[in-house]
Amino acid sequence: MNDAPVVDLSLARYAVAGNPIAHSQSPFIHTQFALQTAQALSYERLLCPLDDFPATVQAFAAAGGRGCNVTVPFKFEAYRLAKQLSPRALLAGAVNTLRFDADGWFGDNTDGLGLVRDIEHNAGRSLAGQRVLLLGAGGASAGVLGSLIAAGPAEIKLANRSPAKAQALVDAHLDCAHQHGVLISASGLDDCGCAYPVVINGTSASLAGAGVPVGPQVLAPGALVVDMMYGPAAANFLDWARSHGATPRDGLGMLVEQAAAAFEIWRGLRPATAAVLAELRQRLA
Ligand code: ATR
Repeated sequence: MNDAPVVDLSLARYAVAGNPIAHSQSPFIHTQFALQTAQALSYERLLCPLDDFPATVQAFAAAGGRGCNVTVPFKFEAYRLAKQLSPRALLAGAVNTLRFDADGWFGDNTDGLGLVRDIEHNAGRSLAGQRVLLLGAGGASAGVLGSLIAAGPAEIKLANRSPAKAQALVDAHLDCAHQHGVLISASGLDDCGCAYPVVINGTSASLAGAGVPVGPQVLAPGALVVDMMYGPAAANFLDWARSHGATPRDGLGMLVEQAAAAFEIWRGLRPATAAVLAELRQRLA
């Protein structure tokens, strides 16, 4: 079901599909990108019934939709709907961007690109040669691991409450890590090592009302600590990081950067992100 009532059919239609979707900032972000680049497009929220994602997205495409972003909980279903997949999406097993090509839908995953660009470009920390701790082995971590490897850190430790799940995700990325010369390994949360200059939270521990799942020994002095969430969901983890002298960063930059990468896939040109990120921060403050 579509909650954007007025549709201008002269515009190329895009949307973000999810459930829930009312909170999504993607319409704001893509509208800013469209204004900035003078692209004639509209961007809607597409609320998909939990048991009817494919039919909802197919109806949107049949009604003139050109593509959509996909968010929780449909990224795995979107993967199955795509006829062509980018290597990133293949590795992640999940799709956050669909382009409705006439000869079969193309699926990509721009989450990891967005995270890496936010860390390197917006936060100004190169990942090359660094040691990175990634917490969590669910969909969020799976979506970014390939791009983190491609950024060429010396080492990635994937730590998860269930170590076997972390090991499975590591195993799926071993070839990619070897190709990039990255040492990758899995662990539990209690034995994930110490003094990482970059720590990324991909767990949903805060949504579950749980505390920070690791101790401060994981932080190197001046570490950059990124939570892939933003707003209240990221507050606990980032407050903890700040209280231990680390530099906290929420997931808003990643959100804007993954959107920019999706926009480029659809429209063939890359929007500037800094002003949009600043406006988004103000809007949510
Ligand atoms: P998402 O798609 O947001 O990644 P998910 O696939 O359900 O959601 O994954 C949630 C992640 O957060 C998992 O890695 C989960 O750990 P398990 O694999 O052991 O379940 C992690 N997680 C959830 N609650 C947690 C908690 N209280 N402490 C630590 N990790 C937690």
